[in-house]
Amino acid sequence: MTDPRTLAGRRVLLIVAGGIAAYKALELIRLVTGQGGSVQCVLTEAGARFVTPLSLQALSGAEVRTDLFSLSLESEMGHIALSRAADLLVVCPATADLMAAMATGRAHDLATTLLLATDTPVLIAPAMNVRMWDHPATQANLATLKARGVHVVGPDEGVMACNEFGFGRLSEPPAIVAQIASLLAPAPQPLAGRHALVTAGPTHEPIDPVRYIANRSSGQQGYAVAAALRVLGARVTLVSGPTTLAAPPGVERVEVETAWQMLAACRDALPADVAVCTAAVADWHVTPTPTKIKKTPGGTPPTLILADNPDILAELSQPSARRPTLVVGFAAETNDVIAHATAKRARKGCDWIVANDVRAETGIMGGQDNEVTLITPDGAETWPRQPKTQVAAGLAARIADMLAGCSPLSPRTPEPR
Ligand code: CTP
Repeated sequence: MTDPRTLAGRRVLLIVAGGIAAYKALELIRLVTGQGGSVQCVLTEAGARFVTPLSLQALSGAEVRTDLFSLSLESEMGHIALSRAADLLVVCPATADLMAAMATGRAHDLATTLLLATDTPVLIAPAMNVRMWDHPATQANLATLKARGVHVVGPDEGVMACNEFGFGRLSEPPAIVAQIASLLAPAPQPLAGRHALVTAGPTHEPIDPVRYIANRSSGQQGYAVAAALRVLGARVTLVSGPTTLAAPPGVERVEVETAWQMLAACRDALPADVAVCTAAVADWHVTPTPTKIKKTPGGTPPTLILADNPDILAELSQPSARRPTLVVGFAAETNDVIAHATAKRARKGCDWIVANDVRAETGIMGGQDNEVTLITPDGAETWPRQPKTQVAAGLAARIADMLAGCSPLSPRTPEPR
């Protein structure tokens, strides 16, 4: 039997488009609210020919939205915020026309604008005549939507309102609700009760009050790792050099500027079960002058005397009572990537190292994608080029697997290498 409160606290934005099956949206609202969920309806112009706003409103208990240019809607909650306030967007029924609009990115009414503007998961329940469903245009649109991560339930096979037989019938509302419940099920949190320390971004090493030494790191990979560890339930401390990125939700960010400040913040954050050092820490600093270095006409340019910065990864990897159970480094290399990264893992004493090729032509440093090789005591494993968020999700999953066998916050002496 279904848990009657499976959808407690979950918010569904239901888009009802124009099809004969639109009346089943009413049953869907009843089932979602019956399981504790809330439903906000958006009705398209064509949908309003099949069901009335009043019946949707009576069942959902919320005012039905129909108009992209509604002054009252914009004053209460902008149409963009409307989609963001939901945990899931459900299109029921999804007509061939609405699927085509979604696939081509049209935004001509409230429903299509919401669908284009959202980053919330979307579930569509298609319903249409069998020939429309089978048409290569609809199938191509379906493939496009699936490739973009849109979830699809149905259609079912059967006799349609037009008396034809085949695929095109809207799935029954209980099947749609089951799909909604599985999409909204809380994600497993294998890192609950664990503390993760992540370093990210560049460091800035001041030369004088207005100048500094920096590098091209954007911080994206580290922020993605912090977010992915948080999604798996870890408490995350993100020690970040200067970036333009927002802290991922639920992550505690400590902002620093220099390598020495980053080291101090990492020491303060211990103990941790896992440390992931993605920061592009400057290897050297200069002793900054308290006042701006002035040009002297005809004089010699100033000489910068560099001094070593602390190696944060190497310090965190030192055997000690406060050593995290797992220490992961990143290796930014421009040649002989795997050989250099393997040597770096041994030299720094970390458990794993994630090697990446940061030659300018790879577009990795500062870019959206990454192509990494994970080097562990068991060997090297190259992952395909993918968005940094997916690299982060893959790494977080591996960290969760590794920590599954260790008790929380247990210091561990690294294996001999
Ligand atoms: N790292 C660190 N502190 C430093 C330098 C690097 O914690 N002072 C960490 C990075 O966060 C990364 C790893 O060490 O996890 C490797 O960084 P990388 O820049 O690739 O190597 P370097 O140690 O700087 O060595 P090299 O410049 O010789 O490649």
